[in-house]
Order: sequence, then C-alpha cells, then structure tokens
Amino acid sequence: MSKKLFIETLGCAMNVRDSEHMIAELNAHGGYELTDDATQADLILINTCSVRERPVHKLFSELGTFNKLKKFDAKIGVCGCTASHLGKEIIKRAPYVNFVLGARNVSKITDVLHRDKAVEIDIDYDESQFAFKDFRSSPYKAYINISIGCDKQCTFCIVPKTRGDEISIPTDLIISEVRKAVENGAKEVFLLGQNVNNYGRRFSGVHEKINFTELLRRVSEVEGLERIRFTSPHPLHMDDEFIEEFARNPKICKSMHMPLQSGSTEILKAMKRGYTKEWFLNRARKLREMVPDVSISTDIIVAFPGESEEDFEDTLDVMRQVKFEQVFSFKYSPRPMTEAEQFTNMVDSEVGSERLSSLQALQDTILDELSSTLLGREFDVYFEELRSDGYVAGRSGNNVLIKVKGSEEHLGQTARVKITETTRLVQYGEIVA
Ligand code: 5AD
Ligand code: SF4
Repeated sequence: MSKKLFIETLGCAMNVRDSEHMIAELNAHGGYELTDDATQADLILINTCSVRERPVHKLFSELGTFNKLKKFDAKIGVCGCTASHLGKEIIKRAPYVNFVLGARNVSKITDVLHRDKAVEIDIDYDESQFAFKDFRSSPYKAYINISIGCDKQCTFCIVPKTRGDEISIPTDLIISEVRKAVENGAKEVFLLGQNVNNYGRRFSGVHEKINFTELLRRVSEVEGLERIRFTSPHPLHMDDEFIEEFARNPKICKSMHMPLQSGSTEILKAMKRGYTKEWFLNRARKLREMVPDVSISTDIIVAFPGESEEDFEDTLDVMRQVKFEQVFSFKYSPRPMTEAEQFTNMVDSEVGSERLSSLQALQDTILDELSSTLLGREFDVYFEELRSDGYVAGRSGNNVLIKVKGSEEHLGQTARVKITETTRLVQYGEIVA
C-alpha cells in the first residue's frame, strides 16, 4: 500500500512550486501519494512563509494540533522560509517534529525523511541545477522557476535571509521544463523568481550572457506554448527593451506585476528600493502607452518606519495616477534579520491600520470604476478551473478573472467571452466563439 502525504502550503508561488517539487520527490523515491486528510497521513509537511509576522506561536499551535490528530507513527516536517529562519529552535520547542527543511533545500526532502531530527537550512545551498521529478497541481498552467534566492536588500524583507543569494537557473534547463510542461498539456507557463528581470546576472557554472528579455524571447519560441506569465519583476529593472518585448511578443500575457511598496521617494530610499516615485510613474506610463489593454498589479506596504501623512499621500497619488487593476496591500511588519527591524521611527499601529483601510477604500472605488468599463467587452479566456456552482473560471491575457456557465470540457481551452455582468473582482460572461 502506498504511503500518504499531507502538505499545507503557505506563502507565495515559489512555495507552491517547492511543494510540487517535494511531492514529486516523495512520490518517486518514497511511493507517497497525496491526501487532504491529515489524520490518514504518514507524513505531514507544513511549507511555511515568513514574509510577514504570522505569530510564531500560531505555527507551534498548528504543529501541536497536527501532533494530536496524526497517526501514531506519522512524521511531521516543517519546510520553507520559517524553517530557514527558526531552524533547530523548531525542534527544541516542538520535539515531536521529525525534521526541519529550509527553502532552497527542498531537494533534500527524501534524505531528511530518514534522518530523525535533521535540520537542513543552508541558504548557500545550490539547487539551481537539481533535476527534480515531475509533479504539477494543475495540468493547464505550469509554474517554472527561473532563479532561486534574491540579491536585493530591501530593508523590510526577510527573503534574502531565508532564500539566500540569487542564482539563475541555466536557460536550457528552463526551456526543457517549458517543453515538458507543454508536452503534458499546459498551454500557459508562469515563470517564477524573486526578481525575474534580474535574470542572467549570476549562474552557478559557466553560462552564455543572457538577460530576462532574451529569456522571454526564447521561451516564446517553444512550439505549442500559448501564454507566458511571470512574477515578480522589479520596477528598477524595467528598461525600455524589456517593456518593448512585453508589448511586442504576442505570447506574453498583458499583465504586469509592479511592486510599488511606497509612492514616497523618501520612503523608497529608506526601503532601499533603488527607484523614485517619478521613475515608477514613468515606467507605468510607458507600459500603458505601449500596451493600452495592460493590467498592472502591485504590492504596497503602509506605515513603514518614518512614513508621514505626506508620504502616505504620495502612495495614494500613485494609485490615483496608475489605477492599478489589483493591489495587494499590507501593514508594515518588522521582520528579524532585516535592516528596518533596527529602525526606531515606528508608525503608531492604529495609524497604520487606518492608512491600510483608507488605501483599500480608494482601491475599491478604482476597481468599481474599472470593472464597470468591462461590460459588453470581449476577451480570450483560458479556462483552468471547474467551480462547484456549474461555472468554469479562467483569465484573459490581461488577467481579468472571468466565469462562464460550463463544464469539464472547457478546461484547458481558450474561448472568446463577452462580459454580461460585472462585479468588483469577478466578471461573468458568455462564450461567443
Ligand atoms: N511587512 C509587510 N509587508 C511585507 N512584504 C514583504 N516584507 C514585508 C514586511 N516586513 C510584502 C511586500 C512584498 C510582498 C510579497 O510582501 O509588499 O512585495
Ligand atoms: Fe515566498 Fe517570501 Fe513567503 Fe518565502 S517569505 S514563502 S519567499 S513570500
């Protein structure tokens, strides 16, 4: 009988891909099959995120719950960014945890399984050329890593300390992953890295000189591939050549993530983001000019240390000018091992909460305005998900989430859809071709 694996994945798309890699390795080398019932599992994995403070006691209370409900001989492993950050402290505080496996060490999953109390959290470990076995949670859309780690030193961010320095994955490995995914039925790939448009700055071996724009060109040459998405690019590295390729290449989905973080040049400096408010606005304007249908999403942090009302107004001003189609907004959360943790000019927590609410209220108004313009328009939608309410859901190239009445046969297909009803976040439509 096969062994059962239960896995909980928190955090970003990189973590989703890390989980897929661990599932594939455990299946190939340990015969594990996935279960969504932790009480039946022989192995329970939590793939953690540490980008914001999820109170550490929450992780330990969750571990305590798993320990109570698990089969008596089942193992528990903690993986991901909090594993990198807390290391052996996890086993000290929860002695029933069998192993701790940091982000960027996931290729060691079958090894740690057989070494009780193993702690593998080396952030210099180089997995950039590891040939992982294959597992994909969706047959329609394939996540493909193009780099590991991050070389930036944004003062709020823990990631360089949990995922280490940036190493690009060799181009031929990426292309062969894309080919494999397409052969297995995926028409869309999602290229992943902490800072994708920094691609090609450092490889672990000798490698031809290549940048992200050239990588996009080569990926788009893969036959059978229809759509390319990527995340996250850094606004600082959005040069003209990159934006022009984005505009020109028909396989690249017209959806761009541009993490603003703050609209104030002063705060951007304190965050060490490397660009100004004007540079960001200039890049967004260029994008909108060259790709009139583009959808731009962003990440914003409010109440970073030292943020005045005026700084916050600058952020709202950028939002009003750019009119982002999607905003992920967060209240600043001090993280260990970061430069900003030492900053003493903290913004009062209540002020931070108020700023977050007013930012979200502004974004709601912008979204209502944007979604009302969608009525009657037509989009090519690639359907990926069957919903229980008799609908299938998919996205247009420019990332509009669209639902139509449909069934399994629509999955993995692209259809022309006319929008018949709009809401703030999801649009409803009917297939016209
Ligand atoms: N506090 C709040 N938000 C943060 N992010 C990263 N670090 C922090 C932090 N310390 C946000 C950023 C980033 C997103 C993934 O998480 O906006 O782009
Ligand atoms: Fe992803 Fe960052 Fe969270 Fe790590 S800390 S899982 S890199 S979002």
